[in-house]
Amino acid sequence: MRKGIELYSFKEIEKIRRACGIVAEVLHILAENVKPGVTTWDLEMIAREETKKRGARPAFLNYRPPFHREPYPAALCVSINDEVVHGLPKKDKVIGEGDLVSIDFGVIIDGYAGDSAITVPVGRIDPDKERLMVATKEALRRAVEMAKAGNWLSEIVETIHSTAEEFGVYPVLRYGGHGIGRKVHEEPFVPNNRKDLGKKDVKLRQGMVIAIEPMFALGTEETIQDGDGWTVRTKDRSPSAHFEHTVAVTKEGPLVLTEI
Ligand code: MF3
Ligand code: CO
Repeated sequence: MRKGIELYSFKEIEKIRRACGIVAEVLHILAENVKPGVTTWDLEMIAREETKKRGARPAFLNYRPPFHREPYPAALCVSINDEVVHGLPKKDKVIGEGDLVSIDFGVIIDGYAGDSAITVPVGRIDPDKERLMVATKEALRRAVEMAKAGNWLSEIVETIHSTAEEFGVYPVLRYGGHGIGRKVHEEPFVPNNRKDLGKKDVKLRQGMVIAIEPMFALGTEETIQDGDGWTVRTKDRSPSAHFEHTVAVTKEGPLVLTEI
């Protein structure tokens, strides 16, 4: 342990990879089920069933994240359009044509966690939503490349923030990635917005495992909390996109664990 940041051995990273593989498989199935008329609760049910089939357990269900006072009551976070993150699945929340649906999911198996998120367009989406999605995905791709031993955490943050600027969109404040391994949320916090960077930087080292998760919005970096106590929305109600991978810092460079 160093500054509260866990370092994982090759064997442990293999275990995290197993959890991550299941996350990727389930997300793939969920993406295929995102269609007009489907509710976010339907997706929740599919996620629980597919996780059980694979001998894992949902990492978020009944988990109390460090940033909240109560345990999260679902396996999935499904955030549509102006919802940024932690969208609580609901039986009356119906997906429609043109929506931007982000699905965030994690599992635990054999004591190790994996976490990933994708944003799925429903049918034809408007060009602004398309640009937002492309920007967020590109930010994740570039940020992953920076996850090398010897690089600084601030370089990841700078990559994410400047990618948002390049595409004319906004990296949301206060929400971001995190260390992951034996627990879903470990040190360090990985901001998406450079304003959230603290004074002390972190040098990336072999054995660190981090979830990198850019969340961008079309019109603002500010968010508000929804009445359900979980769902986070953009302050101006503009759409938002979210992509996340769990990445290990290895001798060979960044290793994306949440890809099948
Ligand atoms: N991937 C989300 C995050 O890192 C997981 C949310 S956990 C929840 O913030 F329990 F709060 F939903
Ligand atoms: Co995460």
